[in-house]
Amino acid sequence: MNPEQNSSAANVFGMIGLGTMGRSLLLNMADHGFAVAGYDKNAAQVAILEQEGQHAPVSVFSSLPEFVASLKSPRAIMMLVPAGPIVDSVIAEILPLLDKGDILIDGGNSHFTDTTRRDKELAAKGFHFFGMGISGGEEGARRGPSMMPGGDIEAYKVVKPILEAVAAKVNGEPCVTYIGPGAAGHFVKMVHNGIEYGLMQLIAETYEILRKGIRLENEAIYQVFKTWNEGRLQSFLLEITRDIFSYKESGADGYLVDRLLDVARSKGTGKWTSQVAMDLELPIPSIDAAVETRDLSKYKSLRVEAASVYGAEQPNGFTAVEQQQLLTQLEQAFYFSMVTTYAQGMHLLAKASVAFDYQLQLDQIAKIWRGGCIIRAAFLENIYNAYQQNPTLQHLLLDPQVAQLVQQAVPGMRTVVATAAMSGVAIPAYAASLSYFDNFRNATMPSNLIQAQRDYFGAHTYELIGKEGVFVHTNWVPDAID
Ligand code: 6PG
Repeated sequence: MNPEQNSSAANVFGMIGLGTMGRSLLLNMADHGFAVAGYDKNAAQVAILEQEGQHAPVSVFSSLPEFVASLKSPRAIMMLVPAGPIVDSVIAEILPLLDKGDILIDGGNSHFTDTTRRDKELAAKGFHFFGMGISGGEEGARRGPSMMPGGDIEAYKVVKPILEAVAAKVNGEPCVTYIGPGAAGHFVKMVHNGIEYGLMQLIAETYEILRKGIRLENEAIYQVFKTWNEGRLQSFLLEITRDIFSYKESGADGYLVDRLLDVARSKGTGKWTSQVAMDLELPIPSIDAAVETRDLSKYKSLRVEAASVYGAEQPNGFTAVEQQQLLTQLEQAFYFSMVTTYAQGMHLLAKASVAFDYQLQLDQIAKIWRGGCIIRAAFLENIYNAYQQNPTLQHLLLDPQVAQLVQQAVPGMRTVVATAAMSGVAIPAYAASLSYFDNFRNATMPSNLIQAQRDYFGAHTYELIGKEGVFVHTNWVPDAID
């Protein structure tokens, strides 16, 4: 379409995909006075937005050409559709209706390699494209999400005022910033989700310790999470967990959480984080443990069978003295593991920034994660300060203030991990966090032996202390002794 043809078009932003997220974000924009347009193939979704947006500057379309024609040039159109081939088919469908210079935004949880490809393909055709991670779920999208746009910076500048207006605010500052070139935005959102998996798993393990080790009822578990959430552990995930332990369905007996199947599924962003970390040879064991434990949960019938082989499902539980002392230590252990989980995620970002030339500013990423997103937490302020004070900080655990906090939490952490292990409570993410820390602070890991073994059976050669880069091979088989 010729740009002059739509000079009378009034809408400044268009949304394709009017599911919960797309609809909520569009209504958020309308609340801020922006005239917006929404399109969906599905008539039911169109009808919901027509209803919810009737008193707002929202135009709703079930015809794609009419939707496109309603947008001002250069058109800014966001897709909020399921990640994968659907994004490509939406792009293929809309491209013939657009003009060069128009802007397409992928606001879903696309894999960053898809975003890299689309960025190149669309740029070659004269269109602007950027991939943007959006966090905060339905409520975030409606009231203020955290957003991670990456890619075409000129395109970002066009929609920046809209995104800044609708983003969550912390100290009056919007939780959105340009992340970096290419797929940087989607990469950062993926790592956000990896951290999200890690924190969720840590909370689930805490629940396991509270109910099976300390033997607390739901009311008492609610109190623990409530108290924690009022202190240094304050976070969105603890807040919602607290609420879960007070939720009873009307007319039903007991708490809903007790009636849920112990099987946790996922859409894949945690797995992608672990896969990329492996490819980059950058360890994130707390996040890996979270991904693996969700997977193990799916083998329900095998677990039931194993329970009958290895004894009662209930572990031994802690002694009365342990139960009393453990709550304080558990707070320390959770703090310790939370910090190490964030630290691993930030380390992965630092590594990826170099590997993929994303030019990430870790302080700015921590800054926009302080509000709106699922992993928002009081501790994000510490992370922000650490990278502000030292933009070249190699690892969060090397920040002096963070190190002090971690040191204080170490004794509690050790007690919790040891006690849980002795009484048979499974704590994969806690244990992974502690071992990660113990190896990380270990100036002499036992990896010299791995070198020797590899050279022994495979002649892979080895490096010597003080002779970096010099690789030698030894015939390790001892001479026969007469
Ligand atoms: C967010 C969430 C969001 C979504 C996750 C859930 O930041 O708002 O991370 O993106 O809820 O993708 O992921 P799983 O279904 O894999 O748990």
